[in-house]
Amino acid sequence: MSKPNELADWQDHLEKKLPQPILVRVYQETRSTQDIAKPFAPKMALIIADQQTAGRGRLGRSWSSTPGASVLMSVVWPNLGKTLTHDRVSLLSGLAVARAVENVLPASKARLKWPNDVILDDCKLAGVLIEAMSSAYVIGIGLNVTRKAITDPGIAQASTCLEEHGPTMDRLHVIEILVTELIQALSDSKTDEMLVQWRDRAALGQTQTFEQAGQQITGEILDLDPDHGLIVRRDTGEIVTLPAATTSVIK
Ligand code: BTN
Repeated sequence: MSKPNELADWQDHLEKKLPQPILVRVYQETRSTQDIAKPFAPKMALIIADQQTAGRGRLGRSWSSTPGASVLMSVVWPNLGKTLTHDRVSLLSGLAVARAVENVLPASKARLKWPNDVILDDCKLAGVLIEAMSSAYVIGIGLNVTRKAITDPGIAQASTCLEEHGPTMDRLHVIEILVTELIQALSDSKTDEMLVQWRDRAALGQTQTFEQAGQQITGEILDLDPDHGLIVRRDTGEIVTLPAATTSVIK
């Protein structure tokens, strides 16, 4: 468990260091940082917790954690002109987390399992949850820093953490890099360049099974449409586009 004073220092440090003015709040323990973040919308805000009592993942799953072992944070990103689509935020957020991981672990290559799981050596390192509000998106990131972060024995084998790939990581440093990458990606989305970076880390050509609107879809991953979702060729030859918000990956 981190000391309260240490966490209070995080707030000052981040408010000074981040490339854009952003309200920062750091909690020893909260329910979900997503819920704490939402009332700040559409103001840009960063909510961090040492521990969550009701962390959640995509598609109604829960996200469990141990104090002091993960990065648990939510960013409110304004979308007043409604120009950003859910799929684009998903693409940019996943990419930002992958780039941040490669920054703190320079010898590693992070992969993206669509929509935005961040994978190192075939194991999940981080997950991103995007929740849309009328005036903003709330982007939640959970990233395993130490092995203690992985509490669920059912997914332990398929999960990894930063300390398994490099020297002990200072969580404040990781958060600073993560939020800086996120701000850069979301403020300056050069689509062509982003797609090149996404393709370089994605499972193009692999066959996967998805569930969308109650239907199972198996097919080969062809590409990504940044505003509409993953482009997949079904076994039948039909080409479909799967939106991030409503599609789950089965295997
Ligand atoms: C997933 O892989 O399903 C996404 C997991 C997202 C977890 C993070 S932890 C911080 C933020 N608060 C939450 O309740 N969830 C996200």
